[in-house]
Amino acid sequence: MSGSRLLIPATLLLALLLVACEGQPGVIDELVARSPTPDDPAAEAASSEDPSPVAATATPSPAPPTATPNADGVYIVPCGDIHVPLDKLHRLEEDCAPEGLVAISEAYAHGLQEVVEQTLPDLLALLEAAVAEGHRLAVVSSYRSFETQRNTYQYHVDTLGQEEASRVSARAGHSEHQLGTTVDFSSPAVAYELVEAFGGTPEGRWLAGNAHEYGFVLSYPQGMEEVTGYVYEPWHFRWVGREMAAEVRASGLTLGQFLLR
Ligand code: DAL
Repeated sequence: MSGSRLLIPATLLLALLLVACEGQPGVIDELVARSPTPDDPAAEAASSEDPSPVAATATPSPAPPTATPNADGVYIVPCGDIHVPLDKLHRLEEDCAPEGLVAISEAYAHGLQEVVEQTLPDLLALLEAAVAEGHRLAVVSSYRSFETQRNTYQYHVDTLGQEEASRVSARAGHSEHQLGTTVDFSSPAVAYELVEAFGGTPEGRWLAGNAHEYGFVLSYPQGMEEVTGYVYEPWHFRWVGREMAAEVRASGLTLGQFLLR
């Protein structure tokens, strides 16, 4: 998705950021810097009107995201486009669910784990390559519906409090897991938990160095919380296809920066 499709009115942006970023100045600065400014005054004028809901279907849609924020002050991105930005200012509709979810083989999954069909070949190729090099990896989280993410976020709020929860978990609609293209990997070395230490294990290092070859991008790299809005998650990889993954890596940008460039 090019930046020109995301018409965030500049005069609204700061107010939205204050709401959406929950008082994290670094996040606000970075998101202001990377959010496009509309050159169409009509977009600015439209921002004061009630937003038109975007039809949420699982079919790829040519419709651009809403140019006006919903009541929660966040922009809606099209359902069915696997390359949409999803962060604290961009989200999917509640009823957006991917078509064609398929289960990941039990050999590589803890419990029922599902991804969209187009992600599966590269995911299996990655897992088989890792095993061939002596690593043990499993997918411990994958597709999460809006409702599941709502519960996940609330669990973190209940256990960590609002401020910490917003650093480690996406609100419902904002998670890349809702796309069906995102997986969390873990390994026996960290008891299949999602912990920062995973990044220092042979499996975590292998993923960081090789996942892009299979179309996966580490969404929340170390030391980039002020850019991504989330703490380092060495386990969280989003599939964008091999071509785009190579471009993201070559760019030196985070995935979010790349999608909004
Ligand atoms: N942990 C990531 C940010 C998510 O909830 O999608």
